[in-house]
Amino acid sequence: MQSTLTVADLNHNPSSQRVLIVGGGIVGAALAFYLSKPNSSRHIVLLDRSLEESLGSTGHAPGFVGQLNESSALTRLAQDTASEYLSIPGGFNTVGGLELATTASGEQTLQSRCKKARAAGLPAEIITPEAAASLAPDFINPDTVKTGLHFPSDGTADAQAITSYFTHEARARGVEFLEAAVTGFATVYNDDGTPGEITAIRTAKGDINLAGSTVILATGIWTSSLTSPANGNESSITQFPVPIIPVAHPYTFTPARPARMGKPYPFVRWPEHHVYARDHGDRDGLGSYDHAPLQLNPGDTAIGAWPSSFDEVLLNATSHLKNGKEFLVQGRQGELDSWAAKEPFNGIFSVTPDNLPLAGRVPDVSNLWLCAAIWVTTAAGTAKLISREILRGSQNSTSAEDEELLKAVNPARFQGLEAELLTAQALGRYNNIYNKETSR
Ligand SMILES: Cc1cc2nc3c(=O)[nH]c(=O)nc-3n(C[C@H](O)[C@H](O)[C@H](O)COP(=O)(O)OP(=O)(O)OC[C@H]3O[C@@H](n4cnc5c(N)ncnc54)[C@H](O)[C@@H]3O)c2cc1C
Ligand SMILES: *[C@@H]1O[C@H](CO)[C@@H](O)[C@H](O)[C@H]1NC(C)=O
Ligand SMILES: *[C@@H]1O[C@H](CO)[C@@H](O)[C@H](O)[C@H]1NC(C)=O
Ligand SMILES: *[C@@H]1O[C@H](CO)[C@@H](O)[C@H](O)[C@H]1NC(C)=O
Ligand SMILES: *[C@@H]1O[C@H](CO)[C@@H](O)[C@H](O)[C@H]1NC(C)=O
Repeated sequence: MQSTLTVADLNHNPSSQRVLIVGGGIVGAALAFYLSKPNSSRHIVLLDRSLEESLGSTGHAPGFVGQLNESSALTRLAQDTASEYLSIPGGFNTVGGLELATTASGEQTLQSRCKKARAAGLPAEIITPEAAASLAPDFINPDTVKTGLHFPSDGTADAQAITSYFTHEARARGVEFLEAAVTGFATVYNDDGTPGEITAIRTAKGDINLAGSTVILATGIWTSSLTSPANGNESSITQFPVPIIPVAHPYTFTPARPARMGKPYPFVRWPEHHVYARDHGDRDGLGSYDHAPLQLNPGDTAIGAWPSSFDEVLLNATSHLKNGKEFLVQGRQGELDSWAAKEPFNGIFSVTPDNLPLAGRVPDVSNLWLCAAIWVTTAAGTAKLISREILRGSQNSTSAEDEELLKAVNPARFQGLEAELLTAQALGRYNNIYNKETSR
């Protein structure tokens, strides 16, 4: 996609009916799609620093969609998301999800998750180690497993295919695109305590004057650096904390191999070990959360430098897979290769203090909305929810269900809390599988 207009075009035709979405990853593209539903009078514009290449997290997600979350709001958003992705050509593959337990307490957790899933209307079944191994024979040695939990309606989303679909459909419905890097905002605040306003978006191609337009930040891991610039002399555009913390995450592949015959493997997780694996068709992939959380400041892409400590993290992760050794032999010198030769990568995504997105209106800036810290798993459902709320108009009331979801993701919910505390809580979520130990 190329720019369909310029900064000058926008400034020649100011309109309070305009919505500017910053960020064209899966979340921004979904917003453009749902906001441009027919019969809307809005002029929707999507900005990204690169419209050609997916520089954000969306370009790197292996795309596991596990719908059952310990947060019932996230479960509902994921269920809605999966049903949207199913209608997108090549968007979703219902390969199923499989969780494995190796201890008695792990087994109990799976049993309680199975009950919860059924209560939420998600098919789920406890299965034997042999049945689990038969679903992914190269990954699972039945002797090392006590129980499996199978979610047949889970699967993998092709985040890039979904993003291109949303982008192209939005374009066909009149959404305009502008390639420009946002560098900051011009704001006005009033003395009487009423909300301030963003008057202009500063970009590398000049200022966009807003004239009352609405701005939505769908900027993923870059969101808090835009709302609260850490360096320089600009102050935060909102007084509400935006604890969206970028963290490093290691993922790697086996060498290419011929596609397997038979049924595709489900996505497999070993929650007790913080490890997961997926069959990518022409190779296998492996990721691990089994390391101290590592906060980092992203550059212009969602790929970070490779911390040498990740070598051992991935090496240890391979021990849980039956075919773990295959992840070690990529590269030219066999097992003696350093990990760097095996092309693993450090992908950056964000964590928040309660695992939930920050999505909705920012109370102290009248024309600012956030739609960030959202996984592929909940992207379409959350973008739909926020689009409904933006398009609702002042007469219509929100449904009870939307109201509850909006409350759960409300960007104002961290008001008054210390930044350091919020960062520590968010980092604590990184590998706290199922959120067992942390209370809200
Ligand atoms: C290794 C890895 C594994 C993952 N695994 C999964 C998984 O299995 N399941 C799952 O659901 N999720 C997974 N995720 C998370 C998922 O990828 C992200 O949560 C999701 O893609 C975020 O989408 P987004 O649109 O919010 O952000 P992004 O895709 O990052 O898009 C943000 C966009 O904003 C643009 N932007 C930012 N700042 C500016 C600026 N100043 N000016 C102009 N443009 C700007 C960027 O260029 C980018 O295109 C994983 C992520 C990684 C990295
Ligand atoms: C629940 O969702 C959060 C945020 O997307 C994620 O980090 C966590 O792993 C999910 N829990 C499960 C059990 O998948
Ligand atoms: C920051 O301050 C310097 C020196 O006062 C000034 O030149 C610069 O323009 C300011 N930067 C911003 C982004 O306001
Ligand atoms: C890898 O496993 C070994 C043996 O269990 C352990 O001592 C080591 O701390 C682990 N390394 C990492 C980075 O987790
Ligand atoms: C608001 O309500 C009116 C009247 O019921 C309806 O025609 C319109 O579609 C609604 N708008 C939205 C965005 O739901």
